[in-house]
Amino acid sequence: MIIIGFESSCDETGVAVVCTEKGLLAHALHSQIAMHQEYGGVVPELASRDHIRRILPLTEQVLGQAGLTVADIDAVAYTAGPGLAGALLVGASVAQSFAWARGLPAIPIHHLEGHLLSPLLADPKPQFPFVALLVSGGHTQLMRVDGVGAYALLGETLDDAAGEAFDKTAKLMGLGYPGGPALSRLAQEGDARAFDLPRPMLHSPDLDFSFSGLKTAVLTRLKQIEKESGAMTARQRADLAASTEAAIVDVLAAKSIKAMKQTGLKRLVVAGGVGANRHLRAQLVQAMGKLKGEVFFPPLELCTDNGAMIAYAGALRIQAGLADLAGASHAFTVKPRWDLQEVCREDCLLATGDPLLP
Ligand code: KG4
Ligand code: ZN
Repeated sequence: MIIIGFESSCDETGVAVVCTEKGLLAHALHSQIAMHQEYGGVVPELASRDHIRRILPLTEQVLGQAGLTVADIDAVAYTAGPGLAGALLVGASVAQSFAWARGLPAIPIHHLEGHLLSPLLADPKPQFPFVALLVSGGHTQLMRVDGVGAYALLGETLDDAAGEAFDKTAKLMGLGYPGGPALSRLAQEGDARAFDLPRPMLHSPDLDFSFSGLKTAVLTRLKQIEKESGAMTARQRADLAASTEAAIVDVLAAKSIKAMKQTGLKRLVVAGGVGANRHLRAQLVQAMGKLKGEVFFPPLELCTDNGAMIAYAGALRIQAGLADLAGASHAFTVKPRWDLQEVCREDCLLATGDPLLP
């Protein structure tokens, strides 16, 4: 069975085709980062308009790359939420029109389910069950993944996402958008012990995160330096970047290890743009080594938003009997806010009702 997938929940337009037997056949992506850069963040209206411009050319490109035509597609999957309403509507309407025109089922996919299952597209792929650390500009979550449709939230951020913490502190320091890579580059030349920044909730007994206080702490340090000595020196900038990065990474790594211990699982998967951070990777590799476990970092193009994870989630849901293939009217709605538990199997609570869970 060949499934085409559409992703348009935020600032990336992604289209891909996946075969239930052969895996990923082709995928194409357009990132809007350059377009949003001058505004210092994603502008929803511009995002929607750009998805409209890109989605059909990308669809043609992907079909061409896979050597397929519209007639070869057996089902359509699309991100129905969560995300920006206008942006989601672009992918949803293209997907539903495609399905309607060909008389195919259209499968709405939860964006986070796409992320959680995307590591299975990589080689080597982790076996179920595993713990997933999802760290991007919009999400910071620790999830237990027992199988398709069996997800349990272990912990999440109470305010800013980890990527947002990188982006906002980078902005305070006058670095460009997205700030994560820029801050991380600058941090390489700095001393992470130079500034004593808070590690929010590091020792809290739960697996939740909080990053908004860090932003305030960085702002306070910046103001202090300005008051004491005027402009920051290059050395101070690098030190502050390194100290900020260390504060975020320490919390992410510590909570991930706590999740491994609490669940008793031995496999950790990291997904999302912040997974590109070298310090986070190094710290997790070291800590998981001590636990005699494994850590998986899928290729970055599969970690960040993409169409492949949506097509693949559609394929897995079909195989697991969790997709409505009868298809109905092709009337649709999108869900800018959507609880992942709503797409879990009914017996999921049993599967994840492990006594080891917090
Ligand atoms: O998954 P992603 O590409 O998009 C979504 O947010 O959905 O993640 C983007 C986030 C941004 O906040 C960016 O600053 C962060 O990932 N990021 C990094 C690094 N590369 C990207 N953060 C820290 N270190 C990096 N090397
Ligand atoms: Zn995402």
